[in-house]
Amino acid sequence: MTSDKKSRKFLVGGNWKMNGYRALIDTVTTMTLADLPSDYSVDVVVCPPFPYLPLLITAVRKMSDPRIQVGAQNIHSERTGAFTGEVSFPMLTDLGVDWAIVGHSERRQLYGETNESAAAKFHMILKDSYSMRVIFCVGETLEEREAGRTEAVLESQLRALLPEGTVLSEEDRLKWAVRLVVAYEPVWAIGTGKVATAEQASAAHAFIRKFFAENAGDTLAQDVRVIYGGSVNAGNCRELASQPDIDGFLVGGASIKGEFRDIVLSRRG
Ligand code: PGA
Repeated sequence: MTSDKKSRKFLVGGNWKMNGYRALIDTVTTMTLADLPSDYSVDVVVCPPFPYLPLLITAVRKMSDPRIQVGAQNIHSERTGAFTGEVSFPMLTDLGVDWAIVGHSERRQLYGETNESAAAKFHMILKDSYSMRVIFCVGETLEEREAGRTEAVLESQLRALLPEGTVLSEEDRLKWAVRLVVAYEPVWAIGTGKVATAEQASAAHAFIRKFFAENAGDTLAQDVRVIYGGSVNAGNCRELASQPDIDGFLVGGASIKGEFRDIVLSRRG
């Protein structure tokens, strides 16, 4: 399947994880992301820790640049209830949060997120929210890659989203295309400084697109954005951004540094 990259808008997410501080909101909004070239097409999704979301939303509104959006790093799969320490999507939409990261490997490895719980979060948001969008993370560990199981792992992570026999209506397909972004994040590349090669990332992205083509049709496979995450920085982003199946990045460590701007602009030229 040839992929028509031009029709998919470049997206760069900044996942601060449990990093950052109040003054960083000002730096990011008045310096790092200020005055992006007016003809540059991109979605930038800044995802700070929960307590900073309202401050970031206020600061982003002041920027008056619809390209800059705000995301949460996780959500709970229920709307309300006795879940101490958790945050639900209606609370986030209430604040004006546009996006949620779901199924990040650190949530999977450290906090018991499973393929099923991550998929349940996506399905709940799609059903119950009118607008919230999801960056859904998948990716294999080093052990799984070395055992030649990369595609099998990706397949099972995606299969939870689209169980065998699912039939998406035309309306569903349009909704999925707008509200789902898949982030391929090989676990061995996250926070390690060991970025995937353009070939490794491209092969995984092409596999993800093929999965959608086979299970949800060519149109969704063409439209869904697949972004790469894992040790992306100013030095390696351009080569990755030029690959036909890579539609953007989910950036951790570099998202709280000035080089985030270079990554955001890496599709230029
Ligand atoms: P990293 O993290 O850029 O620090 O490797 C990426 C991520 O976890 O999304």
